[in-house]
Amino acid sequence: MARTKVDLILGIQWGDEGKGKFVDVMASEYDIIARFQGGPNAGHTLEFNGIKHILQTIPSGIFHEGKENIIGNGVLIDPHILHRELTAIRKFDIEPKERLILSDKAHLILPTHRLLDAALEAQKGDKKIGSTVKGIGPAYTDKTARGGLRVGDIIRPDFKRKYEALKAQHTGLLKHYGFDESKWVIDNMPLAEYEAKWFEGVEELSGYRILATEYYLEEAMNAGKRILAEGAQGSLLDVEFGTYPFVTSSNTTASGVCSGLGISPASVGRVYGVFKAYCTRVGSGPFPTELHDAWGERLREQGGEYGSTTGRPRRCGWLDLVALRYTIMLSGVTDLIVTKADVMDDFEEIKVCCGYKKDGKPLAQFSPMDLDGIEPELTAMKGWRTPISDIKRVEDLPEAFRAYLAFITEKTHTPVSIISVGPNRLQTLMA
Ligand code: GDP
Ligand code: IMO
Ligand code: MG
Repeated sequence: MARTKVDLILGIQWGDEGKGKFVDVMASEYDIIARFQGGPNAGHTLEFNGIKHILQTIPSGIFHEGKENIIGNGVLIDPHILHRELTAIRKFDIEPKERLILSDKAHLILPTHRLLDAALEAQKGDKKIGSTVKGIGPAYTDKTARGGLRVGDIIRPDFKRKYEALKAQHTGLLKHYGFDESKWVIDNMPLAEYEAKWFEGVEELSGYRILATEYYLEEAMNAGKRILAEGAQGSLLDVEFGTYPFVTSSNTTASGVCSGLGISPASVGRVYGVFKAYCTRVGSGPFPTELHDAWGERLREQGGEYGSTTGRPRRCGWLDLVALRYTIMLSGVTDLIVTKADVMDDFEEIKVCCGYKKDGKPLAQFSPMDLDGIEPELTAMKGWRTPISDIKRVEDLPEAFRAYLAFITEKTHTPVSIISVGPNRLQTLMA
Protein backbone atom coordinates (compact mmCIF):
# COMPACT_ATOMS: atom_id res chain seq x y z
CA MET A 1 0.00 0.00 0.00
CA ALA A 2 1.44 3.38 -1.03
CA ARG A 3 2.17 5.87 1.72
CA THR A 4 -0.42 8.66 1.84
CA LYS A 5 -0.20 12.38 2.56
CA VAL A 6 -2.25 14.53 4.88
CA ASP A 7 -4.78 16.84 3.20
CA LEU A 8 -5.73 20.07 4.97
CA ILE A 9 -8.84 22.15 5.30
CA LEU A 10 -8.04 25.69 6.37
CA GLY A 11 -10.05 28.85 6.84
CA ILE A 12 -8.36 31.55 4.78
CA GLN A 13 -10.12 34.67 6.08
CA TRP A 14 -10.90 35.62 9.70
CA GLY A 15 -12.55 32.36 10.76
CA ASP A 16 -16.11 31.01 10.46
CA GLU A 17 -15.70 30.35 6.75
CA GLY A 18 -17.52 27.00 6.95
CA LYS A 19 -14.61 24.66 7.76
CA GLY A 20 -16.73 22.40 9.95
CA LYS A 21 -19.26 21.77 7.19
CA PHE A 22 -16.51 20.77 4.75
CA VAL A 23 -14.63 18.53 7.12
CA ASP A 24 -17.93 16.73 7.71
CA VAL A 25 -18.70 16.62 3.97
CA MET A 26 -15.26 15.28 3.08
CA ALA A 27 -14.84 12.98 6.09
CA SER A 28 -16.46 10.11 4.18
CA GLU A 29 -13.38 10.07 1.89
CA TYR A 30 -10.90 9.79 4.77
CA ASP A 31 -10.03 7.35 7.57
CA ILE A 32 -8.71 9.83 10.13
CA ILE A 33 -9.72 13.43 10.85
CA ALA A 34 -7.32 15.45 13.00
CA ARG A 35 -7.48 18.89 14.60
CA PHE A 36 -4.03 20.50 14.90
CA GLN A 37 -4.38 23.92 16.56
CA GLY A 38 -6.70 26.24 18.44
CA GLY A 39 -9.12 25.01 21.03
CA PRO A 40 -12.64 25.77 22.23
CA ASN A 41 -12.41 29.28 20.76
CA ALA A 42 -13.57 27.50 17.60
CA GLY A 43 -17.21 26.90 16.77
CA HIS A 44 -17.63 24.54 13.80
CA THR A 45 -21.16 24.04 12.53
CA LEU A 46 -22.34 20.84 10.86
CA GLU A 47 -25.85 20.38 9.48
CA PHE A 48 -27.44 17.15 8.30
CA ASN A 49 -30.66 15.18 8.85
CA GLY A 50 -32.34 18.37 10.05
CA ILE A 51 -29.96 18.77 12.99
CA LYS A 52 -27.32 21.41 13.57
CA HIS A 53 -24.25 20.48 15.63
CA ILE A 54 -21.65 22.91 16.89
CA LEU A 55 -18.24 21.50 17.76
CA GLN A 56 -15.54 23.38 19.63
CA THR A 57 -12.75 20.88 20.31
CA ILE A 58 -13.94 17.64 18.75
CA PRO A 59 -12.90 17.10 15.12
CA SER A 60 -15.77 17.44 12.66
CA GLY A 61 -15.50 13.82 11.48
CA ILE A 62 -17.02 12.52 14.72
CA PHE A 63 -20.46 11.77 13.24
CA HIS A 64 -19.04 9.33 10.67
CA GLU A 65 -19.03 5.70 11.68
CA GLY A 66 -15.73 3.89 11.39
CA LYS A 67 -13.59 7.03 11.32
CA GLU A 68 -10.98 8.02 13.85
CA ASN A 69 -10.77 11.57 15.14
CA ILE A 70 -7.57 12.88 16.64
CA ILE A 71 -7.09 15.91 18.86
CA GLY A 72 -3.48 16.71 18.04
CA ASN A 73 -0.68 18.04 20.22
CA GLY A 74 -1.13 21.58 18.89
CA VAL A 75 -4.69 21.81 20.22
CA LEU A 76 -5.67 23.23 23.62
CA ILE A 77 -8.23 21.27 25.63
CA ASP A 78 -10.53 22.59 28.31
CA PRO A 79 -11.67 19.29 29.89
CA HIS A 80 -14.99 20.77 31.02
CA ILE A 81 -15.88 22.08 27.56
CA LEU A 82 -14.75 18.85 25.90
CA HIS A 83 -16.76 16.82 28.43
CA ARG A 84 -19.83 18.94 27.58
CA GLU A 85 -19.28 18.32 23.85
CA LEU A 86 -18.89 14.57 24.42
CA THR A 87 -22.10 14.48 26.44
CA ALA A 88 -23.96 16.28 23.64
CA ILE A 89 -22.73 13.74 21.08
CA ARG A 90 -23.84 10.75 23.15
CA LYS A 91 -27.43 11.96 22.74
CA PHE A 92 -27.13 10.82 19.13
CA ASP A 93 -26.29 7.24 20.12
CA ILE A 94 -22.64 7.73 19.33
CA GLU A 95 -19.97 6.55 21.77
CA PRO A 96 -17.22 9.10 21.19
CA LYS A 97 -14.68 7.02 23.12
CA GLU A 98 -14.59 4.61 20.19
CA ARG A 99 -13.93 7.38 17.70
CA LEU A 100 -11.66 9.81 19.51
CA ILE A 101 -7.92 9.77 20.30
CA LEU A 102 -6.10 12.46 22.28
CA SER A 103 -2.48 13.42 21.87
CA ASP A 104 -0.61 13.02 25.14
CA LYS A 105 1.06 16.34 24.35
CA ALA A 106 -2.03 18.50 23.87
CA HIS A 107 -1.97 21.25 26.49
CA LEU A 108 -4.74 21.86 29.00
CA ILE A 109 -6.63 25.10 29.54
CA LEU A 110 -6.99 25.52 33.31
CA PRO A 111 -9.97 27.40 34.74
CA THR A 112 -7.53 30.11 35.84
CA HIS A 113 -6.30 30.50 32.24
CA ARG A 114 -9.83 31.63 31.43
CA LEU A 115 -9.77 34.14 34.28
CA LEU A 116 -6.39 35.44 33.13
CA ASP A 117 -7.80 35.86 29.63
CA ALA A 118 -10.65 37.95 31.06
CA ALA A 119 -8.25 39.96 33.24
CA LEU A 120 -5.92 40.73 30.31
CA GLU A 121 -8.82 41.77 28.09
CA ALA A 122 -10.18 44.03 30.84
CA GLN A 123 -6.76 45.66 31.19
CA LYS A 124 -6.63 46.45 27.48
CA GLY A 125 -9.76 48.61 27.69
CA ASP A 126 -10.75 49.87 24.23
CA LYS A 127 -7.72 48.07 22.72
CA LYS A 128 -9.17 44.71 23.63
CA ILE A 129 -8.77 41.87 21.15
CA GLY A 130 -12.34 40.69 21.46
CA SER A 131 -11.11 37.26 22.57
CA THR A 132 -13.60 34.46 23.03
CA VAL A 133 -12.21 34.38 26.60
CA LYS A 134 -11.71 30.63 26.46
CA GLY A 135 -8.21 30.95 27.93
CA ILE A 136 -6.41 30.49 24.60
CA GLY A 137 -3.80 33.27 24.95
CA PRO A 138 -2.78 32.44 28.54
CA ALA A 139 -2.67 28.66 27.90
CA TYR A 140 -0.44 29.01 24.81
CA THR A 141 1.66 31.49 26.82
CA ASP A 142 2.25 28.85 29.50
CA LYS A 143 3.00 26.28 26.78
CA THR A 144 5.72 28.40 25.18
CA ALA A 145 6.99 29.55 28.59
CA ARG A 146 7.38 25.83 29.38
CA GLY A 147 5.05 25.81 32.35
CA GLY A 148 1.89 24.22 30.96
CA LEU A 149 0.09 20.99 31.80
CA ARG A 150 -0.58 18.36 29.18
CA VAL A 151 -3.12 15.61 28.61
CA GLY A 152 -0.41 13.03 29.32
CA ASP A 153 -0.04 14.54 32.81
CA ILE A 154 -3.59 13.71 33.87
CA ILE A 155 -2.84 10.02 34.34
CA ARG A 156 0.27 10.65 36.45
CA PRO A 157 0.23 10.63 40.25
CA ASP A 158 1.57 14.16 40.62
CA PHE A 159 -1.12 15.76 38.42
CA LYS A 160 -3.06 17.39 41.27
CA ARG A 161 0.12 18.83 42.76
CA LYS A 162 1.20 20.27 39.41
CA TYR A 163 -2.29 21.67 38.89
CA GLU A 164 -2.28 23.42 42.28
CA ALA A 165 1.19 24.88 41.65
CA LEU A 166 0.15 26.35 38.30
CA LYS A 167 -3.14 27.59 39.71
CA ALA A 168 -1.26 29.36 42.52
CA GLN A 169 0.91 31.13 39.94
CA HIS A 170 -2.21 32.20 38.10
CA THR A 171 -4.07 33.48 41.15
CA GLY A 172 -0.97 35.50 42.09
CA LEU A 173 -1.03 37.08 38.63
CA LEU A 174 -4.77 37.74 38.85
CA LYS A 175 -4.25 39.64 42.11
CA HIS A 176 -1.34 41.52 40.54
CA TYR A 177 -3.67 42.59 37.72
CA GLY A 178 -6.22 43.80 40.29
CA PHE A 179 -8.68 41.14 39.09
CA ASP A 180 -10.07 40.40 42.53
CA GLU A 181 -11.90 37.31 43.72
CA SER A 182 -15.35 38.83 43.20
CA LYS A 183 -14.62 38.50 39.45
CA TRP A 184 -13.50 34.87 39.57
CA VAL A 185 -16.56 33.64 37.71
CA ILE A 186 -16.46 31.48 34.56
CA ASP A 187 -19.56 30.85 32.42
CA ASN A 188 -21.65 32.20 35.33
CA MET A 189 -20.05 29.72 37.75
CA PRO A 190 -17.83 30.62 40.69
CA LEU A 191 -14.28 29.35 40.17
CA ALA A 192 -14.71 26.43 42.62
CA GLU A 193 -17.82 25.18 40.79
CA TYR A 194 -16.12 25.41 37.38
CA GLU A 195 -13.09 23.66 38.81
CA ALA A 196 -15.23 20.76 40.07
CA LYS A 197 -16.69 20.34 36.57
CA TRP A 198 -13.22 20.67 35.08
CA PHE A 199 -12.01 17.74 37.19
CA GLU A 200 -15.05 15.69 36.16
CA GLY A 201 -13.91 16.33 32.60
CA VAL A 202 -10.36 15.26 33.47
CA GLU A 203 -11.75 12.06 34.96
CA GLU A 204 -13.65 11.27 31.78
CA LEU A 205 -10.69 12.05 29.51
CA SER A 206 -8.41 9.77 31.50
CA GLY A 207 -10.48 6.87 30.13
CA TYR A 208 -9.81 7.82 26.50
CA ARG A 209 -6.99 6.66 24.26
CA ILE A 210 -4.13 9.03 25.08
CA LEU A 211 -1.31 8.41 22.61
CA ALA A 212 1.81 9.78 20.97
CA THR A 213 -0.36 10.63 17.97
CA GLU A 214 2.65 11.62 15.85
CA TYR A 215 3.61 7.92 15.71
CA TYR A 216 -0.02 6.92 15.20
CA LEU A 217 -0.27 9.20 12.16
CA GLU A 218 3.08 8.07 10.77
CA GLU A 219 1.97 4.44 10.93
CA ALA A 220 -1.39 5.35 9.42
CA MET A 221 0.29 7.09 6.47
CA ASN A 222 2.55 4.09 5.94
CA ALA A 223 -0.49 1.83 5.99
CA GLY A 224 -2.13 3.90 3.23
CA LYS A 225 -4.80 5.46 5.47
CA ARG A 226 -6.27 8.74 4.30
CA ILE A 227 -5.92 11.64 6.73
CA LEU A 228 -7.69 14.99 6.73
CA ALA A 229 -6.43 17.78 9.00
CA GLU A 230 -9.00 20.31 10.21
CA GLY A 231 -7.87 23.87 10.83
CA ALA A 232 -9.55 26.23 13.26
CA GLN A 233 -9.85 30.02 13.07
CA GLY A 234 -8.57 31.60 9.85
CA SER A 235 -5.27 32.62 8.27
CA LEU A 236 -5.78 36.32 9.04
CA LEU A 237 -5.93 35.38 12.74
CA ASP A 238 -2.54 33.60 12.52
CA VAL A 239 -0.17 34.72 15.27
CA GLU A 240 2.64 35.33 12.73
CA PHE A 241 0.88 36.63 9.64
CA GLY A 242 -2.52 37.77 10.85
CA THR A 243 -3.56 41.26 11.86
CA TYR A 244 -1.42 41.19 15.01
CA PRO A 245 -2.13 41.86 17.86
CA PHE A 246 -5.76 41.21 16.90
CA VAL A 247 -5.13 37.53 16.29
CA THR A 248 -5.36 34.22 18.06
CA SER A 249 -2.27 32.60 19.60
CA SER A 250 -1.60 29.75 17.18
CA ASN A 251 -0.47 29.13 13.61
CA THR A 252 -3.66 28.88 11.63
CA THR A 253 -1.83 28.62 8.30
CA ALA A 254 -0.60 25.34 6.79
CA SER A 255 2.62 25.46 8.81
CA GLY A 256 0.57 24.77 11.95
CA VAL A 257 -0.24 21.27 10.75
CA CYS A 258 3.40 20.12 10.90
CA SER A 259 4.00 21.31 14.45
CA GLY A 260 0.44 20.61 15.57
CA LEU A 261 0.38 16.96 14.47
CA GLY A 262 4.05 16.10 14.18
CA ILE A 263 4.09 15.45 10.45
CA SER A 264 6.80 16.56 8.05
CA PRO A 265 6.19 19.22 5.35
CA ALA A 266 6.75 16.48 2.76
CA SER A 267 3.69 14.70 4.17
CA VAL A 268 1.31 17.54 3.30
CA GLY A 269 -0.92 16.79 0.33
CA ARG A 270 -3.75 18.96 -0.95
CA VAL A 271 -4.51 22.21 0.86
CA TYR A 272 -8.16 23.23 0.69
CA GLY A 273 -8.76 26.89 1.52
CA VAL A 274 -12.32 27.66 2.61
CA PHE A 275 -13.56 31.22 2.09
CA LYS A 276 -16.88 32.99 2.32
CA ALA A 277 -18.15 34.79 -0.78
CA TYR A 278 -17.87 37.94 1.35
CA CYS A 279 -15.84 38.62 4.51
CA THR A 280 -16.70 38.54 8.19
CA ARG A 281 -14.74 39.18 11.33
CA VAL A 282 -15.73 38.83 14.97
CA GLY A 283 -13.72 40.78 17.51
CA SER A 284 -11.50 43.83 17.00
CA GLY A 285 -8.82 44.61 14.44
CA PRO A 286 -8.35 45.88 10.89
CA PHE A 287 -10.82 44.87 8.19
CA PRO A 288 -10.17 46.76 4.93
CA THR A 289 -13.46 45.93 3.18
CA GLU A 290 -15.74 46.30 6.20
CA LEU A 291 -19.16 47.77 5.42
CA HIS A 292 -20.85 50.09 7.88
CA ASP A 293 -23.91 50.61 5.70
CA ALA A 294 -27.08 48.82 4.66
CA TRP A 295 -25.06 46.29 2.58
CA GLY A 296 -23.19 45.19 5.69
CA GLU A 297 -26.45 44.92 7.58
CA ARG A 298 -27.94 42.84 4.77
CA LEU A 299 -24.98 40.44 4.80
CA ARG A 300 -25.24 40.06 8.58
CA GLU A 301 -29.00 39.46 8.63
CA GLN A 302 -29.26 37.27 5.51
CA GLY A 303 -26.09 35.38 6.41
CA GLY A 304 -27.04 34.90 10.06
CA GLU A 305 -23.67 36.36 10.89
CA TYR A 306 -23.69 35.89 14.64
CA GLY A 307 -21.00 33.83 16.44
CA SER A 308 -21.75 30.07 16.57
CA THR A 309 -20.86 29.78 20.26
CA THR A 310 -20.80 33.36 21.54
CA GLY A 311 -23.74 34.84 19.57
CA ARG A 312 -21.68 38.01 18.96
CA PRO A 313 -22.64 39.91 15.78
CA ARG A 314 -19.96 39.45 13.12
CA ARG A 315 -18.61 42.45 11.23
CA CYS A 316 -19.31 42.06 7.49
CA GLY A 317 -17.71 43.34 4.30
CA TRP A 318 -17.03 42.56 0.64
CA LEU A 319 -14.75 39.77 -0.52
CA ASP A 320 -11.11 40.85 -0.31
CA LEU A 321 -8.97 39.26 -3.03
CA VAL A 322 -5.78 41.02 -1.89
CA ALA A 323 -6.10 39.33 1.48
CA LEU A 324 -7.09 36.05 -0.17
CA ARG A 325 -4.05 36.04 -2.45
CA TYR A 326 -1.90 36.57 0.66
CA THR A 327 -3.39 33.67 2.58
CA ILE A 328 -3.35 31.37 -0.46
CA MET A 329 0.36 32.16 -0.75
CA LEU A 330 1.08 31.54 2.94
CA SER A 331 -0.43 28.07 2.94
CA GLY A 332 0.12 26.92 -0.64
CA VAL A 333 -3.62 26.50 -1.12
CA THR A 334 -4.24 24.09 -4.01
CA ASP A 335 -8.05 24.25 -4.10
CA LEU A 336 -10.58 26.85 -3.05
CA ILE A 337 -13.92 26.09 -1.43
CA VAL A 338 -16.45 28.91 -1.56
CA THR A 339 -19.31 29.13 0.93
CA LYS A 340 -22.35 31.29 1.54
CA ALA A 341 -22.68 32.84 -1.91
CA ASP A 342 -26.41 32.01 -1.53
CA VAL A 343 -26.58 34.77 1.08
CA MET A 344 -26.20 37.26 -1.79
CA ASP A 345 -28.78 35.60 -4.08
CA ASP A 346 -30.95 38.73 -4.21
CA PHE A 347 -28.12 41.30 -4.38
CA GLU A 348 -28.40 43.63 -7.36
CA GLU A 349 -24.63 43.95 -7.45
CA ILE A 350 -21.72 42.38 -5.67
CA LYS A 351 -18.43 44.07 -5.02
CA VAL A 352 -15.00 42.50 -4.81
CA CYS A 353 -11.81 44.15 -3.61
CA CYS A 354 -9.00 43.68 -6.12
CA GLY A 355 -6.48 46.21 -4.79
CA TYR A 356 -5.78 48.77 -2.06
CA LYS A 357 -4.80 52.40 -2.05
CA LYS A 358 -3.01 54.32 0.64
CA ASP A 359 -2.47 58.08 0.40
CA GLY A 360 -3.62 57.84 -3.20
CA LYS A 361 -0.95 55.27 -4.09
CA PRO A 362 -1.81 51.71 -5.12
CA LEU A 363 -0.65 48.85 -2.89
CA ALA A 364 -0.19 45.40 -4.34
CA GLN A 365 0.27 43.50 -1.09
CA PHE A 366 -1.64 42.74 2.06
CA SER A 367 0.63 44.08 4.78
CA PRO A 368 -0.68 43.30 8.27
CA MET A 369 1.79 45.83 9.75
CA ASP A 370 0.36 48.63 7.69
CA LEU A 371 -3.39 48.42 7.27
CA ASP A 372 -4.32 51.79 8.80
CA GLY A 373 -5.79 54.23 6.31
CA ILE A 374 -6.10 51.60 3.58
CA GLU A 375 -8.84 52.13 1.02
CA PRO A 376 -10.16 49.13 -0.87
CA GLU A 377 -10.47 49.36 -4.65
CA LEU A 378 -13.78 47.71 -5.40
CA THR A 379 -14.90 46.11 -8.65
CA ALA A 380 -18.66 45.85 -9.06
CA MET A 381 -20.11 42.70 -10.56
CA LYS A 382 -23.64 41.89 -11.58
CA GLY A 383 -25.65 39.94 -9.01
CA TRP A 384 -27.15 36.62 -10.21
CA ARG A 385 -30.54 37.28 -8.59
CA THR A 386 -31.53 33.61 -8.66
CA PRO A 387 -31.80 31.25 -5.68
CA ILE A 388 -28.87 28.81 -5.86
CA SER A 389 -29.43 26.72 -2.72
CA ASP A 390 -31.32 23.91 -4.50
CA ILE A 391 -29.02 23.67 -7.48
CA LYS A 392 -27.29 20.29 -7.77
CA ARG A 393 -24.95 20.69 -10.74
CA VAL A 394 -22.32 23.33 -11.45
CA GLU A 395 -23.57 23.73 -15.03
CA ASP A 396 -26.98 24.76 -13.69
CA LEU A 397 -25.58 27.66 -11.67
CA PRO A 398 -26.55 31.10 -13.00
CA GLU A 399 -24.24 32.63 -15.57
CA ALA A 400 -23.45 35.69 -13.42
CA PHE A 401 -22.46 33.47 -10.49
CA ARG A 402 -20.17 31.39 -12.67
CA ALA A 403 -18.62 34.62 -13.97
CA TYR A 404 -18.03 35.64 -10.35
CA LEU A 405 -16.26 32.33 -9.62
CA ALA A 406 -14.18 32.58 -12.79
CA PHE A 407 -13.15 36.08 -11.75
CA ILE A 408 -11.94 34.78 -8.37
CA THR A 409 -9.95 31.98 -10.03
CA GLU A 410 -8.40 34.41 -12.48
CA LYS A 411 -7.36 36.83 -9.72
CA THR A 412 -6.05 34.17 -7.34
CA HIS A 413 -4.65 31.66 -9.87
CA THR A 414 -6.35 28.97 -7.81
CA PRO A 415 -9.32 26.84 -8.87
CA VAL A 416 -12.61 27.00 -6.99
CA SER A 417 -13.06 23.23 -6.74
CA ILE A 418 -16.04 23.04 -4.38
CA ILE A 419 -19.08 25.27 -4.05
CA SER A 420 -21.33 25.38 -1.03
CA VAL A 421 -24.84 26.66 -1.68
CA GLY A 422 -26.31 26.23 1.81
CA PRO A 423 -25.41 25.01 5.30
CA ASN A 424 -26.53 21.42 4.76
CA ARG A 425 -24.11 18.61 3.99
CA LEU A 426 -25.99 17.94 0.75
CA GLN A 427 -25.84 21.54 -0.47
CA THR A 428 -22.42 20.99 -1.96
CA LEU A 429 -21.32 21.04 -5.60
CA MET A 430 -18.04 19.64 -6.90
CA ALA A 431 -16.73 21.76 -9.78
P1 GDP B 1 -16.39 27.36 10.81
O1 GDP B 1 -15.96 27.92 12.12
O2 GDP B 1 -15.44 27.70 9.70
O3 GDP B 1 -16.67 25.89 10.86
O4 GDP B 1 -17.75 28.10 10.44
P2 GDP B 1 -18.99 28.40 11.43
O5 GDP B 1 -19.71 27.14 11.69
O6 GDP B 1 -18.55 29.18 12.60
O7 GDP B 1 -19.83 29.41 10.56
C1 GDP B 1 -20.29 29.09 9.29
C2 GDP B 1 -21.82 29.23 9.27
O8 GDP B 1 -22.26 29.23 7.94
C3 GDP B 1 -22.52 28.08 9.94
O9 GDP B 1 -23.71 28.55 10.52
C4 GDP B 1 -22.83 27.14 8.77
O10 GDP B 1 -23.95 26.30 9.01
C5 GDP B 1 -23.13 28.13 7.71
N1 GDP B 1 -22.81 27.72 6.32
C6 GDP B 1 -21.77 26.98 5.85
N2 GDP B 1 -21.79 26.94 4.50
C7 GDP B 1 -22.86 27.66 4.12
C8 GDP B 1 -23.40 28.03 2.84
O11 GDP B 1 -22.89 27.69 1.79
N3 GDP B 1 -24.52 28.81 2.85
C9 GDP B 1 -25.12 29.24 4.00
N4 GDP B 1 -26.20 29.99 3.90
N5 GDP B 1 -24.64 28.92 5.20
C10 GDP B 1 -23.52 28.16 5.27
P1 IMO C 1 -13.49 29.15 14.09
O1 IMO C 1 -12.62 27.92 14.17
C1 IMO C 1 -13.81 33.47 14.30
C2 IMO C 1 -11.18 35.51 17.13
C3 IMO C 1 -11.81 36.17 18.33
C4 IMO C 1 -10.82 37.30 18.59
C5 IMO C 1 -9.49 36.65 18.25
C6 IMO C 1 -8.75 36.07 19.44
O2 IMO C 1 -14.91 28.90 14.50
O3 IMO C 1 -13.37 29.78 12.75
P2 IMO C 1 -9.06 34.03 21.09
O4 IMO C 1 -10.28 33.48 21.77
O5 IMO C 1 -8.38 33.07 20.20
O6 IMO C 1 -8.14 34.70 22.07
O7 IMO C 1 -9.62 35.23 20.17
O8 IMO C 1 -9.78 35.60 17.35
N1 IMO C 1 -11.51 34.08 16.97
C7 IMO C 1 -12.34 33.61 16.04
N2 IMO C 1 -13.09 34.26 15.12
N3 IMO C 1 -13.81 32.12 14.34
C8 IMO C 1 -13.03 31.46 15.23
O9 IMO C 1 -12.88 30.12 15.21
C9 IMO C 1 -12.29 32.21 16.17
N4 IMO C 1 -11.46 31.89 17.18
C10 IMO C 1 -10.98 33.04 17.66
O10 IMO C 1 -13.08 36.64 18.03
O11 IMO C 1 -11.04 38.34 17.67
MG1 MG D 1 -16.74 29.13 13.65
